[in-house]
Amino acid sequence: MAVGWAIIGAGMHPQQKLAPAIVLTPDAELIGVLSRDQGRADAFAEAHGAKAGYSDLDALLADSRIDAVFVSSPNAAHVGHTLAAAKAGKHVLSEKPMATSVEDAAAMVEACKSNGVKLGLGFELRFHPAHRVARDLVSQDKLGRVRLLQGHWGRGERKEPEHLPRTGLRDWWEDPEQMGGGSVIMGLGVHVFDLVRFVMQQEVTEVSAMTDGQTDAQPLEHIATMGLRLEDGTIANISCGRMLPDTLNDFTVYGTDGRFTGHATVWEARMGDMEVVSETVNKTEAWEYNYLANFIDEITDFQDAIKGDREPAASGIDGLRSTEINSAVIESAKTGRSVKIEHKKA
Ligand SMILES: NC(=O)c1ccc[n+]([C@@H]2O[C@H](COP(=O)([O-])OP(=O)(O)OC[C@H]3O[C@@H](n4cnc5c(N)ncnc54)[C@H](OP(=O)(O)O)[C@@H]3O)[C@@H](O)[C@H]2O)c1
Repeated sequence: MAVGWAIIGAGMHPQQKLAPAIVLTPDAELIGVLSRDQGRADAFAEAHGAKAGYSDLDALLADSRIDAVFVSSPNAAHVGHTLAAAKAGKHVLSEKPMATSVEDAAAMVEACKSNGVKLGLGFELRFHPAHRVARDLVSQDKLGRVRLLQGHWGRGERKEPEHLPRTGLRDWWEDPEQMGGGSVIMGLGVHVFDLVRFVMQQEVTEVSAMTDGQTDAQPLEHIATMGLRLEDGTIANISCGRMLPDTLNDFTVYGTDGRFTGHATVWEARMGDMEVVSETVNKTEAWEYNYLANFIDEITDFQDAIKGDREPAASGIDGLRSTEINSAVIESAKTGRSVKIEHKKA
């Protein structure tokens, strides 16, 4: 039976990626969408073939055709939307960053657990086949002892098209409270932190960050570079920025016996190529540009998690751990000191 979906949020990400991906995913049906404005909800529903537009959260959650919600509202709203959906018995796939505080992330995990619904995170980089190869190489010891990981994600500046009237709908991206105290850390860095955890299957124990923000004069950073220490001492070096339209967006794992590199694989769309050079494995592979493939696989995995009663590939705990890293990185950028991470019990 098809899984009935609603999207909480009718912004750019749902418009361009989530709704088209749900429509293309086998056994998925787009039932509803939530906007604060009924006209925008109806227009979204019509554009994507959803059954109903809602401007009232309770009414959406009372729709029995909806089994799961994709929470894609502004960052600070994820917690409220998730708690309400869990209480209504709906499974939740939340966009990143999961929450703007570790306490909120833990509350989301607890609410989904106590209401018996699945909680997943929108970490689509886990679904690029290159990154799955990297994870397998590491778990099978094909690169020897991993010493260093490097990842970066940059993009051009976010601008509203000048020929269109100003809507203000995207102003929250410049509001430290709505964002959770970080800009590119919350937008891009969080994906790469999760990728490091995914590939290494280890937790991050300490971080050190340098940014051009986290000050009174400039609360939100445009560029950030971060060092992460993993449980076994391995170090990861991550950079991200939003005024870098020509970044390579590579991800590299250096081991004592070899190296994995994903060239341009750190992006929402599936694209780029991979190079593995090691004592035992030498291979390259390239992927044709596919805008929605990672999202379709993410939604498919979440549906399989519901049907098979298992955790999704990126679970609520993965979201909680990534939120702990975000908070530590922001604290480190503010204080100029490295920050050790205490993992919250969940
Ligand atoms: N996984 C990924 O790769 C990826 C990529 C992009 C974004 N995201 C995440 O997806 C989420 C949504 O991003 P987006 O790009 O769709 O954002 P967006 O285009 O800025 O849209 C968010 C929508 O939220 C509503 N909104 C605006 N200001 C608000 C406020 N102050 N309070 C409550 N609602 C407000 C507006 O819709 P209405 O007024 O119509 O309700 C707006 O259209 C974010 O958490 C973002 O981090 C993830």
